[in-house]
Amino acid sequence: MNSSQNGTLSVEKINADEKSAIAAINSAKNVEELKQVKIEYIGDKSPLAKANQALGSLDPQQRAEFGKIIGAAKNQVNQVFAQKSQALESEKDAQVLLTERVDVTLPNRQPLPGGLHPLTLLTNEISDLFLGLGYEVKEGPELESEWLNFDALNIPVDHPARTMQDTFFIEPRESKLVLRTHTSPVQIRTMLEQTPPIYVICPGKVYRADELDATHTPVFHQVEGLVIDENITMADLKGTLDYFAKSIFGEEVKTRLRPSYFPFTEPSAEVDFFFNGRWIEWGGCGMVNEKVLTACGIDPKKYSGFAFGMGLERTLMVKYGIEDMHDIVEGDVRFTQYFGVGKR
Ligand code: PHE
Repeated sequence: MNSSQNGTLSVEKINADEKSAIAAINSAKNVEELKQVKIEYIGDKSPLAKANQALGSLDPQQRAEFGKIIGAAKNQVNQVFAQKSQALESEKDAQVLLTERVDVTLPNRQPLPGGLHPLTLLTNEISDLFLGLGYEVKEGPELESEWLNFDALNIPVDHPARTMQDTFFIEPRESKLVLRTHTSPVQIRTMLEQTPPIYVICPGKVYRADELDATHTPVFHQVEGLVIDENITMADLKGTLDYFAKSIFGEEVKTRLRPSYFPFTEPSAEVDFFFNGRWIEWGGCGMVNEKVLTACGIDPKKYSGFAFGMGLERTLMVKYGIEDMHDIVEGDVRFTQYFGVGKR
């Protein structure tokens, strides 16, 4: 049978086309090259595709014979192509794995663990201390009624503490609200809500219209103490302040009271403590004014009590030798690290 040759088609040519296609496929070095090879040797314009197209002009018998031969050749080429394609793809994947490899042994960046602010730590320390003495911790709102912040504490309308320079008043003024200037309104809240015996400590934020500088900040913290019971005297106040001071600053610390004036205590005193060779002003205190007790529905013939209030920033500064208020306010880690930020 002379079927090896017909017009443009010959078995030799088909075999040669198959061979060169396979050779081209095998010589492709990467996925991109293989893509070009595919267009040239497998695509519509490839020699084998053209041979396939030429089948149309053959008589049926020859068409069947050449059809088989070309089909076999194309099959072969496609198989080799598929294998090569798979091999090159996995080579490429392996390459990507290599170049994009992550070195899990490299040291990582470690963000500093956070910590409580030193003022919070101090507040917790003081709260724990008084909880241990049987006190309750009580809180009040920072947005306070003018009445509780001033009037109920026997602070008259013309008292300098009320003036614009000190107090942040809330608009509109008819609201009669202020940002509390001290924690003393919590005394009133407590006496109105509870019946004696009362032993509370009230830490919290207070506000006064001051510029931030080395010793002042418009937002600061106080801790208020209030005790109402039978037979409470100034000796109890002094003993409590002594215990408080020693617990915070050390056993060798002494306190002293200096006569002073607060409308809501009578008698009133400033409390100082002796630390590192000098007397340091700590806060205000006194025996709760009978007028205040009466206004809160507590019988002054049966009960008496004391109150004190001190600034926590000042306490913190003295305790740790902090010289600038900015350090407490600004949150620089070089400052807070000492208090536990960054400790693992
Ligand atoms: N509230 C006063 C102040 O802020 C301090 C104080 C508290 C005085 C309790 C006496 C009793 O200055």
